[in-house]
Amino acid sequence: MSIVTFLTRAWLTRSIRPFTFTDEYDEVLPYSDCSRLGLYVHIPFCRSVCDFCPYCKELYSEEKMNKYIDALIKEIHFVGGQHEGKKTVTSLYFGGGTPALAADRIGEIISALSEHFDITDGIGIELHPTNVKPDVLKKLKDAGVDKISIGIQSFLEKYIKTLGRTGVDADALKKALSEVRFQTVSADLIFALPDQTFEDLKYDIDKVFDIGANHVAAYPFIDFTFTKSNVKAMSKKKKRALMDQMTRYFEEKGCYRSSIWTFSTDSDAKYSSMTRDNFLGFGCSATTLLKDQFKINTFFVDEYCRRIENKTLPTSLTLRFRKRQRMVYYLFWTAYGTRVPVKDFEEFFGVPLKKAYGFEIWVAKLLGFIKEEDGALVMTLKGAFYYHYYENFYTLAYIDKMWGLMRKEAFPKSMIL
Ligand SMILES: C[S@@+](CC[C@H](N)C(=O)[O-])C[C@H]1O[C@@H](n2cnc3c(N)ncnc32)[C@H](O)[C@@H]1O
Ligand code: SF4
Repeated sequence: MSIVTFLTRAWLTRSIRPFTFTDEYDEVLPYSDCSRLGLYVHIPFCRSVCDFCPYCKELYSEEKMNKYIDALIKEIHFVGGQHEGKKTVTSLYFGGGTPALAADRIGEIISALSEHFDITDGIGIELHPTNVKPDVLKKLKDAGVDKISIGIQSFLEKYIKTLGRTGVDADALKKALSEVRFQTVSADLIFALPDQTFEDLKYDIDKVFDIGANHVAAYPFIDFTFTKSNVKAMSKKKKRALMDQMTRYFEEKGCYRSSIWTFSTDSDAKYSSMTRDNFLGFGCSATTLLKDQFKINTFFVDEYCRRIENKTLPTSLTLRFRKRQRMVYYLFWTAYGTRVPVKDFEEFFGVPLKKAYGFEIWVAKLLGFIKEEDGALVMTLKGAFYYHYYENFYTLAYIDKMWGLMRKEAFPKSMIL
């Protein structure tokens, strides 16, 4: 861990104690009292595997996927049955891997969840561009999905080649998306690829709106240490210039910024599985965030199925938060949405935000990172860049280390971050 990450954490948590995860876990998850709870389901299969991708996934086979989904439905009933009656939840997101490969069984998974949860804010799912076909889209829509996210990355052959993916047929996507409509059509773009220019990025942005997207998630390329990719990340200076140009371009187009990396043409188009106060995660590698704990399921499909067969939860590691650690975690992910409503923090922790972090807020305002607007702390363009800069440290200090270990061992004894 870099000295910057260590000192920032020690300062904000008012402690030098690390985040300690252990293999001790709750068989009954304390989610009944959680408000604004979201759901996440992980489907870890892809038709081909990209070298740069850090997510938990393996090559698709119909047999493996069906066995996995049978286990997943059991996990949903184990956990869902722990709450008496139906629990109201916000949104449900399917991520992966490529969850759209399970289009034939998405309805079954949603039905299992609906036995235990009332979903109020809609259902989203990730697709690979090759899944964007009218029959697949129709199956998803019939199952209740109203938000889709397509992993475009780039339309330009040179970057598709750099990333080792196959080209995207923009006309076919446009046609399919005009035949089957969704409330949110989000497109993922990866930017800050080697030698990428603003003109190239502009081309991709214009093109995603042209095929029918109303929401864009533009992620800077991250070079994870454990992936096989040899694509190098762009220098900080060039990346900052590109990010600022990109943000201004979205603003000029009249887009609404819904998080650090997402922009939409209308404020109803939403797609975010990250910025939720609490969530329950089902499936391999899925994480669960509750009032005072964060847990992560095993990354190994066979071990996951074995645990479920033995009627135990597939939890690999659990972190029990101390209050300040939870506050920092809460602020980090709420800030990702670029707005931190002051009242929500107080409701969650029973302490006014300005009492907990008055000095830090004063410094952040002084440095021009945030401003106060309608009862919320709102990130400025400068703040968004430094958030990203810090997020890069966070990704390498925490996510890279955590996922690196979880990919090696199904059930490690502990992990100290
Ligand atoms: C689960 S995938 C999306 C769905 C589908 N599997 C696909 O690739 O089209 C999630 C997204 O993470 C982003 N991503 C993956 N690896 C990344 C990396 N190394 N740096 C930045 N973004 C990355 C990509 O934009 C990708 O679309
Ligand atoms: S980027 Fe998408 S298709 Fe490629 S390996 Fe990752 S999850 Fe699978």
